[in-house]
Amino acid sequence: MRFDTIIKGGTFANAAEVAKADIGIKDGRVVAIAERLGDAERIIDATGKLVLPGGIDAHCHLDQPQAPGLASKGAVMADGFRTGAISAAFGGTTTIVPFCVQHRGVSVTAAVRDYHARAQGQCVIDYGFHLIVSDPTPAVLGQELPALIRNGHTSLKVYMTYEAMRLSDHQILDVLQVAKEEGAVVLIHAENHEILTWLSEQLEARSQTTPRDHARSRPIYVEREATHRALSLAETVGVPMVVVHISGTEPLEEVRRARARGLTIIAETCPQYLFLTADDLEAPDLEGAKAMCSPPPRDVANQNGVWRGIEDGSFDIFNSDHAPYRFDDEGKLRAGRDAPFRAIANGIPGLETRMPLLFSEGVMTGRIDLPRFVALTATNNAKLYGLTGKGTLAVGSDADIAIWDPDKRVIITNSMLHHGVDYTPYEGRTIQGWPVVVLSRGEVVVADGELKASPGRGRFITQETSSAWKHGVAPSWT
Ligand code: URP
Ligand code: ZN
Ligand code: ZN
Repeated sequence: MRFDTIIKGGTFANAAEVAKADIGIKDGRVVAIAERLGDAERIIDATGKLVLPGGIDAHCHLDQPQAPGLASKGAVMADGFRTGAISAAFGGTTTIVPFCVQHRGVSVTAAVRDYHARAQGQCVIDYGFHLIVSDPTPAVLGQELPALIRNGHTSLKVYMTYEAMRLSDHQILDVLQVAKEEGAVVLIHAENHEILTWLSEQLEARSQTTPRDHARSRPIYVEREATHRALSLAETVGVPMVVVHISGTEPLEEVRRARARGLTIIAETCPQYLFLTADDLEAPDLEGAKAMCSPPPRDVANQNGVWRGIEDGSFDIFNSDHAPYRFDDEGKLRAGRDAPFRAIANGIPGLETRMPLLFSEGVMTGRIDLPRFVALTATNNAKLYGLTGKGTLAVGSDADIAIWDPDKRVIITNSMLHHGVDYTPYEGRTIQGWPVVVLSRGEVVVADGELKASPGRGRFITQETSSAWKHGVAPSWT
């Protein structure tokens, strides 16, 4: 067979193996993996490089219309599908799954229509949507969600906090029941709204309103309690559940305990819980707001606990939670340099740096091996969210590939990144390893530090049923 492209001489890895092999690509798919392949229209020399499945970032916020009461306080997202997808691609990611949000009083179907319009013609890589349910009316539960799930929107998200989006436990149970009947998987943002609101009021009354106080308003037990409750809700209905952005040891312990009870629980963490701590919130002149997200970065003991969870297999997926608010007066400083933390947008950027940070500090330090890196950043997201053909390199899979130079040393600066945000919380950090060529369905998207493909070529992915369902309540869901 004459291939369109052969990636020659590299070391390829997926979640199960590492081997020296050439990769043959035809019509956008991997069609051969063998020690030596013959000829092709185009040969990409990968000698000395690692040939990995392109990453999947299944937790990112792009062009998300803001609701009143969200901590974003009127700040507009600096990345839509165009810059978000380009930035992702430069960091080795070839599929993104951002959130389509239903605001109260609006139908989910209308929100999906609107979000498709926002993505249309913008994306340079493939994309799907999770659906945020913030108004589970009888029509949403009885008609809209079943129809949407049957049409391939198989992942839903619910919030336990944020005034404009949070659901009561009763409402969450209703959403979980629909997910069970229709075969969807539910992601949950787990923080105890009442405690964090009460603590915020107490802090404000004492004029403690800095970004560091944002973390004080959401101690780890705020997350631990909500995680425990969320898992009890999953247990009540008998459904798998994805706990997103776990920030420390105690909520992760809740996940471990639930798994020991036989529940299928998928655990996600994010770069900010490995690479930032609450000390980063202390920077003067509100610079600490550059590390402000929810849950907040914790102390070193929790950071170590998250690393242990990465190493011992407790975490299944590693996503950015890219929430692209600028630092300037369009974003975090919208309410001024003296703004109290409750007036500052929550969330930090991370689409482009997600994989290089974990590659450098996980793989290059020997904390995790390449298959685990691939599982965390790509394969498990593909299985969990039913992204067929994605997240692995195998004959028949999409040729979504990132070729990494493990020797490339990079000092992260915001000027080298491609997002629309005016800062990175990782400014000045030196890392080793970076993706130098990135292909999406066989087409080179990034090479020589340049974008080689046009926005709009990315396709919307209709999701299959999550693999979490295929294993009933077994703790091992992959
Ligand atoms: O602070 C964060 N994480 N902002 C983004 C929205 C969310 O909670 O995931
Ligand atoms: Zn969240
Ligand atoms: Zn998020």
